[in-house]
Amino acid sequence: MPERDANIKAVLRYYDRTESRLGYLYLLRGTKHFGWYEAGDSGWRFSPAMRRMEHQLGRRLGLDAGSRVLDAGCGMGEVARTMAADFGLDVTGIDILDFNLDEARRRSERAELTSSTRFVEGDYHDLSQFEDRAFDGVYTMETFVHAADPERVLAEFHRVLRPGGRLVMFEYSRTPAEQLEPVARAAFDAVCELGAMPAWHRLNHGDLENLLAVASFKVEPVEDVTARMLPMLRAFAALGRVPYATARRLGKTEKAVNAMSGVEMWKHQDAWRYNIYTATKNA
Ligand SMILES: C[S@@+](CC[C@H](N)C(=O)[O-])C[C@H]1O[C@@H](n2cnc3c(N)ncnc32)[C@H](O)[C@@H]1O
Repeated sequence: MPERDANIKAVLRYYDRTESRLGYLYLLRGTKHFGWYEAGDSGWRFSPAMRRMEHQLGRRLGLDAGSRVLDAGCGMGEVARTMAADFGLDVTGIDILDFNLDEARRRSERAELTSSTRFVEGDYHDLSQFEDRAFDGVYTMETFVHAADPERVLAEFHRVLRPGGRLVMFEYSRTPAEQLEPVARAAFDAVCELGAMPAWHRLNHGDLENLLAVASFKVEPVEDVTARMLPMLRAFAALGRVPYATARRLGKTEKAVNAMSGVEMWKHQDAWRYNIYTATKNA
């Protein structure tokens, strides 16, 4: 699978860069997803907003305490710990970043959540380390955009879920390229390329729900919740403006991918949406 290997290398490269390591650690304290904002919430209060986003996930999973859940692309395990501590779920997190998994284990130890959270290295394209029907729920929190082969990932999610099991995905979709102005299209292409996000580049609005149906899931209406996370993106755009401009001047945009993404995605809001996909494996 040379294409998949190249994709994994690109994802590793993106998260291993100094900007990613420092930004996610110091700005977001190790979490790597957007927050949920109600009217009047300050866009700069990242941590409470990220916890609120995680609560949206827990509610949509709607599983009983003790249910076994797979966190596909767990990062440092902040989402997994919220699912365990606040929803009583038993979470197995997988990721390809060994330095994130080490930290996820340390944090779960500190939080005394080692019996309800565990973290193992794994690629969500190949979940062969898990039996068929091993989980009551599977979720992705802003991870599926990195997939090289979305159909294969969904087939694996379907296989490891028990009949009646729940799949919830917090993921972006895109506006078809031909509907975008050249400048928005070029910006979107650069964000996907430098951020190692081939699935986001490929999946137009409406596509993921169709893929879920083809993978034999019963799909609920998709929720476009872009407005809920925009305050955080606005803050990122403000923070990213100077580093991005400087990197561009020096011809080193690849050193400021997150700054670029914040600025360009804020500027070209017509190019994308932030959605919640909820589906059930047919019994
Ligand atoms: C934006 S981060 C989100 C991390 C975590 N869900 C969170 O919200 O903090 C995306 C994560 O997906 C992981 N990822 C990307 N491709 C993956 C793959 N093929 N298999 C497993 N994890 C993957 C990345 O390593 C990264 O940790």
